[in-house]
Amino acid sequence: MEKFMRHRRLRRSEYMRDMVRENHLLLTDLIYPMFVVESGETKEISSMPGIFQYTLEDFSKELDELNELGIKSILLFGIPDHKDEVGTQAYHNHGIVQEAIRISKAKYPDILVIADTCLCEYTDHGHCGVVEDGVIKNDESLELLVKTAVSQAESGADIIAPSNAMDGFVYAIREGLNEAGFSDIPIMSYAVKYASSFYGPFREAADSAPKFGDRKTYQMDPANGREAMRELESDILEGADMFIIKPSMSFLDVVKEAKTKTDAPIICYNVSGEYSMVKAAAQNGWIDEERVVNEMLVSMKRAGADMIMTYFAKDIAKKMKEGK
Ligand code: PBG
Repeated sequence: MEKFMRHRRLRRSEYMRDMVRENHLLLTDLIYPMFVVESGETKEISSMPGIFQYTLEDFSKELDELNELGIKSILLFGIPDHKDEVGTQAYHNHGIVQEAIRISKAKYPDILVIADTCLCEYTDHGHCGVVEDGVIKNDESLELLVKTAVSQAESGADIIAPSNAMDGFVYAIREGLNEAGFSDIPIMSYAVKYASSFYGPFREAADSAPKFGDRKTYQMDPANGREAMRELESDILEGADMFIIKPSMSFLDVVKEAKTKTDAPIICYNVSGEYSMVKAAAQNGWIDEERVVNEMLVSMKRAGADMIMTYFAKDIAKKMKEGK
């Protein structure tokens, strides 16, 4: 016996390394977030190269490409023409997301459509709920959220993903969906959602920056880990089927711990800021984008993610198609 362990034995060749690799990124792991805009032109989001706000017409064309690439699920966000105090367009039968869902399901019934259920893109103040005297009201917001979820399910959404971070949102939506005849539609809850600066570029993409204050009274403090387990536990009790943790890169400890609390699927949301940082560094020639993206996403799997919501999904699907 030698006096020390030779770890390098299992790293000697590419096939050897392939054989002992513990985690893999699969196409079925990836969920592609997309933005649809009610009017105007399709345009690239300046802080998110390669990501667009699509008109319905271009969204429909884009679906052809995604289908061709083998993308299996998309997450939809809408940017309406008219915003108001109570986010009416979020739960309008012919709202922008409702129409996009119908188009997608009619064209490619197999592609899973996940509807992000929130109000911030639809309210004129940019908060995720009803505002009264500067306070974001919890229970009043739930009613609107339920209406939004039901209208998304009526349009054909396969999965409801509530993200507005009010207490009791899973319970309220589960009841609402059941009453409307959608007891078979799963809830993918944004169970652990931090008040994060990594959402910066998204707020440009979805035109959803709060007009006053911030989201710290409803989203979590990034300094807290144990609180995340309480958030997770309440969503388990309220009947969510899957659990999102967001953002990802700086919160992998939370993902790992969450994995010990539930056997249900866990999803990492690789958010806008995480995407933009990589793109910006790559554009400057400072990092190897393909390898960094792979390392970043596989680390989410290593931490315990079953699926990953990522703006890189299309890039990765292309590479996979090329056989890389
Ligand atoms: C809606 C919502 C946000 C994101 C997903 N759903 C923004 C927010 O909470 O402010 C952020 C996603 C990203 O940054 O990519 N509430």
